[in-house]
Amino acid sequence: MKSLSTNEIRQYWLDYFADHGHMVVGSSSLVPADDPTLLLINAGMNQFKDTFLGLEKRDYKRATTSQKCMRVSGKHNDLDNVGPSPRHHTFFEMLGNFSFGDYFKQDAITMAWDLLVNKLGLPVERLWFTVYTDDDEAMRLWIETGAAPERVLRFGKKDNWWSMGDTGPCGPCSEIHYYWGDLDKQVADGVNKDDEYLEIWNLVFMQYDAKADGTLVPLPAPSVDTGGGLERFASILQGKDNNYDTDAFVPIMDRIQQLAGQSDAERQANLYRYRAIADHARACTFMIGDGVLPGNEGRSYVLRMILRRAARFGKLIGFDQPFLAQVAEVVIDQMGSHYTDLPAKEAYIL
Ligand code: ALA
Repeated sequence: MKSLSTNEIRQYWLDYFADHGHMVVGSSSLVPADDPTLLLINAGMNQFKDTFLGLEKRDYKRATTSQKCMRVSGKHNDLDNVGPSPRHHTFFEMLGNFSFGDYFKQDAITMAWDLLVNKLGLPVERLWFTVYTDDDEAMRLWIETGAAPERVLRFGKKDNWWSMGDTGPCGPCSEIHYYWGDLDKQVADGVNKDDEYLEIWNLVFMQYDAKADGTLVPLPAPSVDTGGGLERFASILQGKDNNYDTDAFVPIMDRIQQLAGQSDAERQANLYRYRAIADHARACTFMIGDGVLPGNEGRSYVLRMILRRAARFGKLIGFDQPFLAQVAEVVIDQMGSHYTDLPAKEAYIL
C-alpha cells in the first residue's frame, strides 16, 4: 500500500482522474452560489447540480474535484459526532469524479477499483462493496472487476440511495468500505454497522431529479457523482485507525497543546476537546476565508456556533485568552499550498 500525506493523496486523486480524461475543477466556495435549498456546500456534486439536471452546459463531460464541504446543518449533519467519533468532521474535503451523461456504472466501478487496488494498493481482502437493493448491474460489475461475490452486499434506501436534499439529483449508490480490524475477524454483518468498517467512497449513479411531491423525474442522461473522504483515505494510507492521528490534524492538535502548555497525558485526557477544537478551527478558517462572518442567522449563525464551541472547549482545557487565530495559522500553513486563497487572505482570517 502506498504511504502518502494528505496533500499528496489529494494530488494523486486529481492526477489519476485527469489522466482518465477528467477536467480538474477547483473547489467551489463553501457558500453556495445560487441555491436556496442549501446553507453550506455539503458534497462535491453541489457545484454541478444544474449540470446534472441539464440546466447548465459545460464544455467537458468529466470532472474531478477536491471539494470543501461542511456537514453541520440540514440533511447531512455530523456536528454531534465530532470529537467522540474517530472520523466525523464539520469541515472535510470530498474527493470526487463526475460524469455528466458520459460514462456510467461500468467505468465508475472500473476506475474506482483501479485507483484503490492497482494504484494505491489497498488490500482487496479488506474491501467491502455495497449496492442498492435491486442494482444487479452494479453487483455484477463489481464481481467482474475483481470483487469476491461474498464481499458485495445489498442495502436499502437508507444506505444505498443518495440525494442531495429533499429535492434535486439523486439515485442508487454503491459504497466501498475498508475494514481496518483484525483480518480474520471481519464479517459481512459488520458493514454499515461496526466502527472497524470505514466507508471510504460513495459512487452515486445519478438518474433522477426528486421533486417536492416525491416524484422521480429521469435526468436528461444517466450520470455519475462520487465522493471519497480525503481524511479517511489519509487514515488508511498513513496506517492510522482514526482521522485525527493523520497529518491533517496532528500538527493542529500539537499547536493547541503547545499553546495550552499541556503535557501529553493532559492532551490525552482531553482528547475529544482537542479533536473538536482542531476540527472547528479548520471549519472556521475556511468559512471566514469564504466570506462568512459570525452572526445570528443562516450560515453566519453556523459559524458563530462553531466558533463558540471551539472557544468553549478551549476554556475547558484551560485557555483564558483568545487562541483560535494561532491555531488557524497552522491550518493555513498546512492547506495553503492547495487552497491558495487561504494564505492570500491570512491576515483577514486571523
Ligand atoms: N454526493 C455523494 C456523497 O456525498 C457522492 O456521498
